[in-house]
This record gives sequence, structure tokens and C-alpha cells, in this order.
Amino acid sequence: MTAVTQPTRQILVTSALPYANGPIHLGHMLEYIQTDIWVRFQKLRGHECHYVCADDAHGTPIMLKAQQLGITPEEMIDKVNAEHQQDFADFGVKFDNFHSTHSDENRHFAELIYNRLNDNGFISTKVIEQLFDPEKQMFLPDRFVKGDCPSCGSEDQNGDNCDSCGATYSPTELKNPRSVVSGATPVLKESEHYFFELPKFEGMLKEWTRSGSLQSEMANKLAEWFEDGLQNWDISRDAPYFGFNIPGTTDKFFYVWLDAPIGYIGSFKNLCDKNPDIDFDAFWSKDSTAELYHFIGKDIIYFHSLFWPAMLEGADIRKPTSVYAHGFVTVNGAKMSKSKGTFIKARTYLEHLNPEYLRYYYGAKLTSKIDDLDLNLEDFAQRVNSDLVGKVINIASRCAGFITKKFDGTLAPTVSEAALIEEFIAAQNDIAELYEARDFSKAVRQIMALADKANQYIADKEPWQLVKDPAKADEVQQVCSVGLNLFKILTTYLKPITPSLAEQVEAFLNVELTWDSINHPLTNHKINKFKAMMQRVDMKHIDAMVDASKDSLQPAEVAAPVLDPNSPLAQDPIADEISFDDFAKIDLRVARISKADHVKGADKLLRLELDLGGETRQVFAGIKSAYQPEQLEGKMTVMVANLAPRKMRFGMSEGMVLAAGPGGEDLWILNPEDGAQPGMRVK
Ligand code: 2FM
Ligand code: ZN
Repeated sequence: MTAVTQPTRQILVTSALPYANGPIHLGHMLEYIQTDIWVRFQKLRGHECHYVCADDAHGTPIMLKAQQLGITPEEMIDKVNAEHQQDFADFGVKFDNFHSTHSDENRHFAELIYNRLNDNGFISTKVIEQLFDPEKQMFLPDRFVKGDCPSCGSEDQNGDNCDSCGATYSPTELKNPRSVVSGATPVLKESEHYFFELPKFEGMLKEWTRSGSLQSEMANKLAEWFEDGLQNWDISRDAPYFGFNIPGTTDKFFYVWLDAPIGYIGSFKNLCDKNPDIDFDAFWSKDSTAELYHFIGKDIIYFHSLFWPAMLEGADIRKPTSVYAHGFVTVNGAKMSKSKGTFIKARTYLEHLNPEYLRYYYGAKLTSKIDDLDLNLEDFAQRVNSDLVGKVINIASRCAGFITKKFDGTLAPTVSEAALIEEFIAAQNDIAELYEARDFSKAVRQIMALADKANQYIADKEPWQLVKDPAKADEVQQVCSVGLNLFKILTTYLKPITPSLAEQVEAFLNVELTWDSINHPLTNHKINKFKAMMQRVDMKHIDAMVDASKDSLQPAEVAAPVLDPNSPLAQDPIADEISFDDFAKIDLRVARISKADHVKGADKLLRLELDLGGETRQVFAGIKSAYQPEQLEGKMTVMVANLAPRKMRFGMSEGMVLAAGPGGEDLWILNPEDGAQPGMRVK
């Protein structure tokens, strides 16, 4: 026996908390799949491992987006939370708890940590000057200010850096600044802010960097930051803000990044409250011996490797065992792009493809490094087809039929080929080490090398020839039983990556695939009839997914939304200039949406019946990504009433509805104020 048994470990694992104002996309999924594979591996090995996450629900962008939608932030974050949880569940990402940072538990721990930091002398205050929107009566975060670059003069640049010349600056340095929220010219205004004194933790952080098992790239990054010098961290924001009040104040709030990582603790506490068997203190007390790991993207290393351990230390709470960062996802070698259709939402993927394909592809490419990972869609199809379908499942499909038809579904009473089976069993320690080290790509390579050996064995034995000779019946049963035992070991090794395939194998082989079961070949064991376990990836479905992901502003299906200049999300380039006369030709009318329906076969369109006050028009509008039909019925909107009718695949479209936003879920029909009557002209 070659298995190395380990004592049971207590492990708490987190993935970064997704913001509660947008959908999950395939870039996000890399992290959740990576973490989920690692957690499933730990559980398969019998450790006490808990995987928690939550939505990151606070901050200015969430507050403003809810305002734009005309709903409360609470309503918005609840809806997004449900969508996120569904996306994760459908990808097989199995959290033990998924909570929200806008929760009682999180408020409790945010206040506790802040109060301890304050009591321990790590909080100070200072009056600072910031840009303020006099119309909206709010301070403006950097990304909500635009203006001319102070360095090269380029217009319409962001508040902190220039796209044109690359300069970085403070938003107060912008020339001709304007608020992206209201369009008003911001003014400078003073306000008292609260600061966390990070430099006081420099010694501890250096020590933690050296003693922990941090990735070398991360340790190098930290060394650079130490070199540059640590700064106090501004942890407060002024009202209006969606978040938690700082204790002892009424108009100061914790900056979203203060209570976001505390959400890890809040979610775990929520889990413990639901499961009294889990000991909260065993994981979070200062002297905890449990392991704590945060999986994150490379863009948020600073928060997790400096602010977070320092906050925990300052509040007398244990620090993470390690922080594991990954790189970004590119698609077909380039940044994900809405116009190319490579900015793919988790939900769009799920509408076209099996989630296990992506789990396998990411698993087969993930390493413990911070490098970016390219999702090359042709390679994706080819790899899944050749490895999962062509190599792994093929073993079962070649052996199962003979066992079912000739041996009443029963495997041979003893297994032959002891050396081959032993080789498969003996791989478990290497494969376990690779999983543990997050070197999933190497683990998959080993597993596929074994799959090649299993296929070679079956090809050499040719059970389909043996079966023709009645004297060789026992041999057929032997060969196919060996094949199915090898298949069982392979699918157990793959179980953390392809759990749904493993579930089907468990039903087929009539056995639970546990790590220990690797050591115990099945003999004289009844199996069930083999059913196809996975379809080959068809490029047609990939193409359809890419098409469905293309910017929802395509002319064929969708009315191009008019950009609302007040939207902080409206960043698309302005279209070519038109004359006033051209503009005057557009007949804009208020319309009541009297009926809204899904359109069979259309990914993006809804069919609307618009009441223009006496006249009814049918319009196909590309707003399905943002609205359910029932949300629209009875609403007023604005339409272009004199657009020439267009014949579409689904019928005649007699006008165009105006909507604003960058697309996808972020698309709002223009919604005139009360008092507007159907048919009214819009000026
Ligand atoms: O970058 C992000 O998407 C953040 N919402 C991650 C927060 S992780 C943790 F600190 F909460
Ligand atoms: Zn510039």
C-alpha cells in the first residue's frame, strides 16, 4: 500500500467577494472554480474544510446603480445575490455558505474590529479636501470624476489616470473636471476622514511575508511596496454612502474595502450559527491552529496581504495562513471584449455549454502561479473532446457493454493486471501533492497519461475480438473489469475538477468514489447500465455563445440605446455628429408598454406592444438581458415613432424604444415622469 495518510486538518477557505452590482462572468469563474477544486480535493481527503463567500454589497457604485434602477440598494443586492448563487451552483461551485457583507454578522465584526483598532491606537483622523458634487451633494470617488488630463490636455479622462498619455494624478488636478454622476462642476470641500495606521505594522508584515507560504511573485510585490513606504489608509466615507456607520458617528461610513474582507468572518459566523458543530473560535481565535486561505485575483493583493493581516493583527485576531493569487482570464489571447463577444457571462455560458467543460479546461490549465490564463475557444473544444470524452469516458464505453450483456452486469471475481492497477493506485500521492500545491495542470497531465495507458491496455487486449471466441469469455470479463477499475480510479482523481461526471460514474459503477476507494478495486460487483455521460463540445454551441455575448447593441436585433450622459456607466464613444435638422426629424413619443412577451428563438429581444394613445405599435427591443416582460407591462417609455418599419425574423418592428446604459443587465428603458401621457411628444 502506497497511500500516505494525513491527520485531519481544519481548513477555512474563501474566494474574493463579488460586487453585488453586476453579473458573474467567465473571468470571475476562474477563481471560484480554482477554489472549489481545491476545497473539493480537501474534502475528498477527509479534512474538515469549509468554503465561505458572500456578495460585496457596499459602496458608492452600488448606491448609485440602485438609484438609477429606481430601487433601494437592499432590493438590488438581494436580487443580485440570488443570481450569483444560482450561477455558482450551476457551475458546481459548492460554497458551504454564501452570505452578504450587508448583514448583521458583518456589522458586528466590522464594529468590533474597528473598536479594537481604535482602542489599540491604530486609528487617527485628519481633515482632507476632496471633490464634491454640489448638485448631488456627495463627495466623488476618483472614478466618478472626468476632465482634461493635467499632463497632455486630452479631454474626457478618468479621475486618476490618462488613457492617452498614461499619466497618473489626483482628481483634484484634472482640468475642467465634471461629475460623472450629475455633469456638474465639482468643488473642493473639506471633510474629516478616519485613517488606519498601516505603517505601524510594517515589522509584523515583513515577518508574516517571510514566515507564510506566500507565492514568490507576491512576496516580491510586497518587497516593492515596503520599499515605496506604507501609508495610512483612509477607511471612512461621508454620507450619502451605502454601508455601515462608523461607531460614534452619524454621517461617516466604513469604506467598502474595510468591511469587505471582514465579510469572510461574517459569512463563516453565519455558517456556524446554522451548524452548531462547527467551532467558530477554533478558526478565528488569536491562537487558532486551523488553516485559513484566501483565494484572490492579482489585482487585490494589496488589500489582502497588507491591509487585511494588519487589521487582524491590530484587532487581536489570527492572520491568514496564506493568500493565493491567480492571474486574469483572456479569451482567444486578448482581453475579454463585449464587441467581440468574448466578455461571456456565466449565465450565457450555461445557456449554451456544459459547466464541466469549463471546469475541466480551467483545471487543466491552472498552476500555482499568478500568470494569466487564456481561454482559447478552439483549444477548449479540442481539449475537452480529446481528454474527457475521447480518453476518459471512452474507457467505460468500450468496456461496459460486454459486462452488461455477457456477465449480467457483474465484474470479474478477481482483478488481473495487478501491476497496472498498482501503478494507477500508486499515483495517488503525487496527484495529491499537485492538488495540494494548486498545480492542477500537472495533476491533470498525470491523470491523462494514466488514461492513455488504460486505453492502450484495452486496445492491446481487443475485448471486441476476444468476445467472438466463447472459450475466452473469462478473459473478456477480466479485461473489461480491469478497464472499469482503471476508469474508477481516474474519475476519482478527477472528482474535484469534474464532480458531476463523478456523480454519474458513481451511479454507473454503483459505488461512492472516495479517496480511500482508490485502494480497493471492485470485484464481483454489480454495475449499472452505461449511459452516455458527456456530449462532445460542438463549435456550433461555442459560436452561439459568442454571438449571444456580443454587445447587445447590434443593429440586427437591437435598438441602439441613447446614452444617458448622467450615467456613471456611460463611457461609450459618442456617435458621429448630426445636424439639428437631422435631430428635429426624430419623432420622440411617450408610449405605454401595454404588453411584453418573450420572442421564441431570440436571445436578446422582447416583443413590446406600445400604446401611443389610440394607436398600437409592435416593437422588438433588445432589452431582454435587463428586463423580464412582466417588469415592463404598464410602464411608460419613450419611443422613436417615425422610424421606418423594419422586417425582422420575428415580425415587423414599428419603431424603437429608447434605453440607456452600457448593455447587458445594465440597460434601462427611458422612463418619463408621472404625468406623461401616451402619445405625448417628447421635447
Ligand atoms: O475586487 C472585488 O471584486 C472585490 N469585491 C473583492 C472583495 S474581496 C474581500 F476582501 F472581500
Ligand atoms: Zn494625458
